[in-house]
Amino acid sequence: MKVAVVGATGLVGGEILKVLAERNFPVTELIPVASERSVGKQVEFKGKQYTVVSFEDAIKLKPNVAIFSAGGGTSTKLAPVFAEAGITVIDNSSAWRMDPTKKLVVPEINAYTLTTEDKIIANPNCSTIQMVVVLNPLHKKYKIKRVVVSTYQSVTGTGKAAVDQLFAEREGRTDVENVYPHKIDLNVLPHIDVFLDNGYTKEEMKMVNETKKIMMDDSIAVTATTVRIPTIGGHSEAVNIEFENEFDLQEVYDILSQEEGVIIQDDPKNLIYPMPINAHGKDEVFVGRIRRDESQPKTLNMWIVADNLRKGAATNAVQIAEFLAKKGLL
Ligand code: A2P
Repeated sequence: MKVAVVGATGLVGGEILKVLAERNFPVTELIPVASERSVGKQVEFKGKQYTVVSFEDAIKLKPNVAIFSAGGGTSTKLAPVFAEAGITVIDNSSAWRMDPTKKLVVPEINAYTLTTEDKIIANPNCSTIQMVVVLNPLHKKYKIKRVVVSTYQSVTGTGKAAVDQLFAEREGRTDVENVYPHKIDLNVLPHIDVFLDNGYTKEEMKMVNETKKIMMDDSIAVTATTVRIPTIGGHSEAVNIEFENEFDLQEVYDILSQEEGVIIQDDPKNLIYPMPINAHGKDEVFVGRIRRDESQPKTLNMWIVADNLRKGAATNAVQIAEFLAKKGLL
């Protein structure tokens, strides 16, 4: 497979290269792409150096698949150009996610709907992916009525510049351009992406709308508060789930323990619960603090953590590519 990575010099792009290598995706030719200012720079893949090329040169090399993580503007402009050249695009930005003609894919849930007609495939929002991986098997068993989620999100979700801001603040340096409107170190920002007219942020509405689309059920009510915290290992989420049907706590454990890509870390007596510091660099979604909501029936509380650059972005995108390759759709 010839694989182009658009945004190869960015945080998610770098992670895509690592995940392609770790999972041994059958790459016969790697084509790293970034903005004009990075053309000619080197990136490393499987111990070898590769030269960054422009998107025009990448298209000429006719990759089978292009994994994009270069922001919404770039995807809006360039994904159709790649698609028209017959290259399947897997896009990490929010540009195509809610387009009714595009599929929004978490492989464990809905990859089976993909066909050769799907030339631009959207990778969901990072916070949404790690949540739906856990919600979906429980929805199948007990039918979810409503989800109330609060997130604790890593600065890596904003990109390299945000990590630089955090460490510059920590080290007392003023030599970087701030990407957050307030200090992030030793602080918490209840603000991710832009504010909308309804008082929610765009990130919060991504969790509401993308959950319904991926799980193919508009009846699931979701309300979210998304929060940026000064961590880099991954996103954490406190999730409250109300079901239509009664559940058994042991059965919830059994269902989740059998779910591919989900690891239960739930042993409060031994102080074991998911944390971003442990999720960092891992492909799985970690779940713990699983307990009944004692304030109302048929309701569950849990704590979900994943590396947002991995399952929340790079891993999910590479898993989509793996599915397409396995099914002969590339
Ligand atoms: P560059 O490094 O040349 O700016 P991050 O989210 O970590 O900041 O990374 C964003 C990624 O998207 C980088 O690899 C960046 O490349 C890339 N990028 C930004 N604009 C474009 C563009 N117009 N065409 C291709 N890649 C782009």
